[in-house]
Amino acid sequence: MIKILLVAGARPDFMKLAPLYFELRKYPSVFSLRIVHTGQHYDYAMSRVFFDQFGLPEPHFFLEAGSGSHAQQTGNIMIRVEDIMRSEKPNMAVVFGDVNSTLAAVLAASKLCIPIAHVEAGLRSHDRSMPEEINRVVCDTLADMLFTTCDDANLNLIKEGIDVGRIFLVGNIMIDTLKYFLPQAEKSRVLDKLGIDEGKYILVTLHRPSNVDNLENLDRLAEILSAAAERCKIIFPIHPRTRKNLENNGGNSAILNNRNIILTDPLGYFDFIKLQKNAFIVMTDSGGIQEETTYLGVPCLTLRKNTERSVTVTDGTNKVVALNLKKIISLIDYYMQDGVLSRRRPFLWDGQTAERIVRILRERFADEAKKEDEAERLTSTDKIVLKNITE
Ligand code: UD1
Repeated sequence: MIKILLVAGARPDFMKLAPLYFELRKYPSVFSLRIVHTGQHYDYAMSRVFFDQFGLPEPHFFLEAGSGSHAQQTGNIMIRVEDIMRSEKPNMAVVFGDVNSTLAAVLAASKLCIPIAHVEAGLRSHDRSMPEEINRVVCDTLADMLFTTCDDANLNLIKEGIDVGRIFLVGNIMIDTLKYFLPQAEKSRVLDKLGIDEGKYILVTLHRPSNVDNLENLDRLAEILSAAAERCKIIFPIHPRTRKNLENNGGNSAILNNRNIILTDPLGYFDFIKLQKNAFIVMTDSGGIQEETTYLGVPCLTLRKNTERSVTVTDGTNKVVALNLKKIISLIDYYMQDGVLSRRRPFLWDGQTAERIVRILRERFADEAKKEDEAERLTSTDKIVLKNITE
């Protein structure tokens, strides 16, 4: 049996882990699976709800690493995940995306000489002030198999001198989850609960440190949201980091007390997808949401200076607008006057990425699986011979 450790810990990891877990599980005689939850995210709404909604089993290991500075969080996860890796001795560790849990697992596994597969490799914002960019570069340098979402990612890796034999263009695994659960998300009653109509609201999410840990930028965001709220209702599910900063800094009353801005706690997957699909526009600094809006064909304004997901701009519905109030408002007005939105779904964003990854993993481990089967067969033969002799 090939033992695979799937390591996840933050909200965006769970949407990527689920399709791969279920696809690998179709081959119980080949793969034995262990899910490790690092505990980077621990609130019900940031973690557990996704396990429940996707029907994932309890993680085999829950590391309770929690929050802290980058070094504290990464170090805590490394220490804990190393213990699991030592005792489990997996044939491979699979990691997702670009969060601190990904980095920690990659560092621990590579020092133990455990082969690593990185799902969502090769994305680059070329902005090293983003913690995620550092995680991406380190993870891709160390991982053995790099599963990418688009051609740009392959090019980035090749430019960094990574051997093409390690790179596999497989498409976007988040879209597997989105496509699979879309019918269920359609049934969500969240629009009624919030008292809003289809296509008549802007959905906002913000959590990047560069936006919400910086007081000046938080004020600019308040200005942007107030101006947008004069045109349209805003739904704003607040990430814990953002809530803390808004509440700690005099409350930013422009956001907290605006009757046209509806604040909610972080939402589960089905409610959030329903809100995205029916939004007039989505404004965000998230990575995954740029991809989901592209798939759903909903206009997305990315409130960052850059994006590592350039395919969502070239092919999809995404526009990178930073915190440029004038640009944002003129785009909102443009879409309000039925402005044209041209887009196509990127290549291989088709719901079959997990299948492609598992096919590649089965090929990679074919020889090892055969050897293990052979060893297993020999041991059983020995047992029979031994039994016959002793009888
Ligand atoms: C992390 C990822 C980011 C990803 C985001 C998705 C890194 C470097 N960043 O950012 O790439 O887009 O997750 O949400 O890994 N907190 C809670 N409850 C929780 C989790 C966090 O209250 O369940 C609070 C903690 O006080 C913490 C803060 O939120 O200090 C931020 O959490 P953290 O995991 O450090 O980073 P995120 O901003 O969530």
